[in-house]
Amino acid sequence: MSLYTDKVMDHFENPRNVGVIEDADAVGEVGNPMCGDIMKMYLKIDNDVITDIKFKTFGCGSAIATSSMATELIKGKTLDEALELTNKAVVDALEGLPARKIHCSVLAEDAIKVALIDYYTKNGRELPESLVGFEPHEEE
Ligand code: FES
Repeated sequence: MSLYTDKVMDHFENPRNVGVIEDADAVGEVGNPMCGDIMKMYLKIDNDVITDIKFKTFGCGSAIATSSMATELIKGKTLDEALELTNKAVVDALEGLPARKIHCSVLAEDAIKVALIDYYTKNGRELPESLVGFEPHEEE
């Protein structure tokens, strides 16, 4: 029996929203200190709504599957809604990940937050409270 749920396998084998947005309104890049893997997220934002999102990763299968699901969950959502996305919600949407792969799911959440900080900062806007002092996870 596979360690991975059908949903994880589906998003790993057919990841949604892979790629680069050349004229992105926000970009977030983070590295995973546990394994050295890298995640980059590109967002198009219109009127505080995420109209498009793409990701590129130099990461494992779980990083690919969780990023794919995370992009699906926040595409078309407002920035405030995107801020509420947690890696746990992404893992739940995938119907679970093996415990030692949970740290991979943090990459997507952190990359989205870093991209949103990029967006607010570039546009001279105050950071929402939940992003003030935000640092990408040091460990899972
Ligand atoms: Fe590095 Fe999964 S092992 S992100």
